Amino acid sequence: DNLDTLYRQVIMDHYKNPRNRGALDNDSLTIDMNNPTCGDRIQLHLQIEDGKVEDAKFEGEGCSISLSSASMMTQAIKGKSVDEALSLSKIFSDMMLGENPNEDDIDLGDIEALQGVSKFPARIKCATLAWKAMEKGIDEQK
Ligand code: FES
Ligand code: FES
Repeated sequence: DNLDTLYRQVIMDHYKNPRNRGALDNDSLTIDMNNPTCGDRIQLHLQIEDGKVEDAKFEGEGCSISLSSASMMTQAIKGKSVDEALSLSKIFSDMMLGENPNEDDIDLGDIEALQGVSKFPARIKCATLAWKAMEKGIDEQK
């Protein structure tokens, strides 16, 4: 339907024009994460200061779902507190379970476009790759 078409356009836009693709300074955190089912790998760079995600960028290769998800994820967490970033990650993983967990009506922005991925279990690991990397990075930072 129309919503699917809109979502597909948002996904392809992030894939073709990725936001925040590249590296950060040496003093940033770098997290390597691979999707074991296909071997694709992304590298996430996070600049976290005083409990806030000052910057986020990513490198690596993968399918359109994984790269668009990385692009959307970095866009969504930039400027947010670490706690807000983790809440978004929780909402996203619930979304991948086919749930609609956004009880607090947080503005999900483009992330919403990936909710249809929950219907394709083989692709869920693609969509969650960058989010897992972000959670790991925040965890290491503690
Ligand atoms: Fe990779 Fe569809 S996004 S096969
Ligand atoms: Fe490898 Fe999607 S097929 S990350």
